[in-house]
Amino acid sequence: MKAALSSVMENQLQNNEFLRDVLEGLGGNRKTLPCKYLYDEVGSRLFEEICDSSDYYLTRNEADIFAIHLDKIAERIGPEALLIEPGAGNCEKVEALLAALDSPKGYYPIDISPEILLDAERRIKNGLPGMQVWSEVGDFTQAAVWDNLINIPSRKRVVFFPGSTIGNFEPLEAECLLELFASNLSPGDGLVIGTDLVKDSVTLERAYNDSDHITEKFNLNLLQRINVELGADFDLSLFAHRAFYHSLRQRVEMHLVCLKSHSVSIADTKIEFIEGETIHTENSHKYSIAGFNSLLTRSGFEPVCFWQDPAETYVIHYAQAI
Ligand code: AVI
Repeated sequence: MKAALSSVMENQLQNNEFLRDVLEGLGGNRKTLPCKYLYDEVGSRLFEEICDSSDYYLTRNEADIFAIHLDKIAERIGPEALLIEPGAGNCEKVEALLAALDSPKGYYPIDISPEILLDAERRIKNGLPGMQVWSEVGDFTQAAVWDNLINIPSRKRVVFFPGSTIGNFEPLEAECLLELFASNLSPGDGLVIGTDLVKDSVTLERAYNDSDHITEKFNLNLLQRINVELGADFDLSLFAHRAFYHSLRQRVEMHLVCLKSHSVSIADTKIEFIEGETIHTENSHKYSIAGFNSLLTRSGFEPVCFWQDPAETYVIHYAQAI
């Protein structure tokens, strides 16, 4: 009963935070919504479909790098490492890497969702019997969530952050996040991180405007989520998905364009939308190798080496904490 009550309260707290962020984002002159809210159950499933789509090359090409260079990456990490994964994914990449490591200390996934962590723990323990797993529930961008690491002594800590997730942070936020990673590492500890390379706008825009319209559904689902969880009355047919490459900012921007002026009610607030205005829902920053190396250097890391896919579209960087 106590557990059920506390989970109800937790849901309410999360909904309050969601409502606050939505009203704040839609209340300004330039409307925005935080991209973390794209990932409810439906959004997460759609994101997995995006990763499998032929136009979204990132996941496939990153997987190629791990397949081709796994032994070199494992060798670079070295023996007895504790692998820390902020934002546990579907475990495929980390499982292969853990299996290739020399006597790993174990796996330390951090995720906001206890269900995802349970699933990750189950998969790793099934796939790699005997592997130690310590799961941490929480938002990995918050310093306090890293505090329990202190209880796991290890010869070497390595943060594993694949998937180009760093690209979804503004450059200054990315710097703060990498600084947070570095502050939880000792000199010589490692960072394995995936970034998408700057490239021609046609390839980039195709990846975020896939021909099966999955990204469109993924983007529009955010409005549906606000309807379901916050009782809003968005009419999804009055918004269209738009994604384009902003070459000066070196990022793909994802927006929802309002097709006709109208108003929307969210809780007790009315929000006016004017035809043509957009809700900015996500940025995906692209980095050159030199550009990312300089971000690493500014954040307390020394770039050591990197690996690329054969078509040179994507990079896995290895850096060490200073
Ligand atoms: C999770 N993240 C790295 C993806 C990206 O490419 O920025 C999210 C995504 N948005 C649209 N397509 C994929």
